[in-house]
Parts: sequence; structure tokens; C-alpha cells
Amino acid sequence: MIRYPMMAACMALCCAGVALAEPSADHPGEEAVKPYAMSNANAGAKPMVDEATFKAFHGKDGIQRVSNAVIDRAVADPRISEIFKAHDLVRVKRTLAEQICYLLAGPCDYSGRDMKATHKDLGIQNADFNALVEDLQWAMNKEGVPFRAQNKLLARLAPMQRTVVEK
Ligand code: HEM
Repeated sequence: MIRYPMMAACMALCCAGVALAEPSADHPGEEAVKPYAMSNANAGAKPMVDEATFKAFHGKDGIQRVSNAVIDRAVADPRISEIFKAHDLVRVKRTLAEQICYLLAGPCDYSGRDMKATHKDLGIQNADFNALVEDLQWAMNKEGVPFRAQNKLLARLAPMQRTVVEK
């Protein structure tokens, strides 16, 4: 009889070379990531010059709602759901909201990794990028973000396609 089934399971996984995700010390509910240099330069574009678009997104709360909604939508989107499987979506929702807030000249810093390192080896193609943009448009519509403001964010994100899509 195995007296300590949890310990036995852990040992079996570790011996098989399976890494167990460690919890993040800084962000409860997230997994730890390898150390990297934190910088707003990792956000991949310069922020806007005024807060008008930030306000059109209903500030930080509105941006967090858009970030949550686009990721939930992407995970349920059969075109791209596979790509998101087994990733820490709590972290993605938090850092994506920071990134959007920073780009819209809101009072936020981006604490995530740069776009190249983040999306390396995910195998993302142009069609996947376009699908995510559609999911983002759906999320912005749900939030009631005016089209003009939606397009300003999309214009900031568009050049990142080159970095995110795999050659
Ligand atoms: C301009 C477009 C995009 C932006 C701004 C963006 C932004 C982000 C951010 C901020 C993160 C988290 C960074 C971190 O953990 O430090 C992330 C992770 C991720 N993104 Fe994107 N992303 C974009 C496009 C895409 C596309 C097109 C896909 C797939 C269809 C995708 C799939 C993922 C996945 C699976 C992760 C998790 C990676 C991991 O856990 O290591 N992203 N993205």
C-alpha cells in the first residue's frame, strides 16, 4: 500500500522529467516565470501622447475587462484555442491589461516579457493573428469602446504581427 500518494505522484513525475509549475511569489494565482529584465520597452510600441483613448476604454477597469474578455473568447475560439492550452492565462490577462493601459497612456507600467520572447515557439501564423484581432474587436464592442478608439489601439498593435507570427 502507498502511504503517501501525493509524494509518490510527485516523485514519479519528477523522475519522468516533468517540471511542476511553481507558484509566483509576487502574483498569487500565477505561475513563476524565468527571470527577465522588466521594462516598458517590452510593451513593443510607444504609448499615445494623451489619455483620450484610455478614457474611451473606461480606464483601467475597462481595459482589464477587455483583456479578460479577449482571452476568454480566444480560449473558446476553435481557430486558436489549441495555442492557449496549458498556458498561465491569469498572467496573460494581467500583463495584457498592463500593456494596453501603458500603450493608451494610462497610469500603468508593463511588467511582462517582450513580444518576441513571449511568443517564441508558439507556432503562431497570420490567420491566428487575424483571429485574435477579431476576438479583440468582439471584446472591445462588448465593452462599448467607440470604433475610433478601437482603431487607435489596433494601429498600435498591428506592427507587432511581424514579431508574433512565426516565419
Ligand atoms: C499584437 C498582438 C499580441 C499582443 C499585444 C500579445 C500580448 C501578450 C502578452 C502581454 C502576453 C503575456 C506576456 C508575459 O507572460 O510576460 C502574451 C502571452 C501569450 N500570447 Fe500573446 N499577444 C499577441 C498576439 C498573440 C496571438 C496572435 C496569439 C495566438 C493566437 C497569442 C498567444 C499567446 C499565448 C499562448 C501566450 C502565453 C505564452 C506563455 O505562457 O509563455 N498572442 N501575449
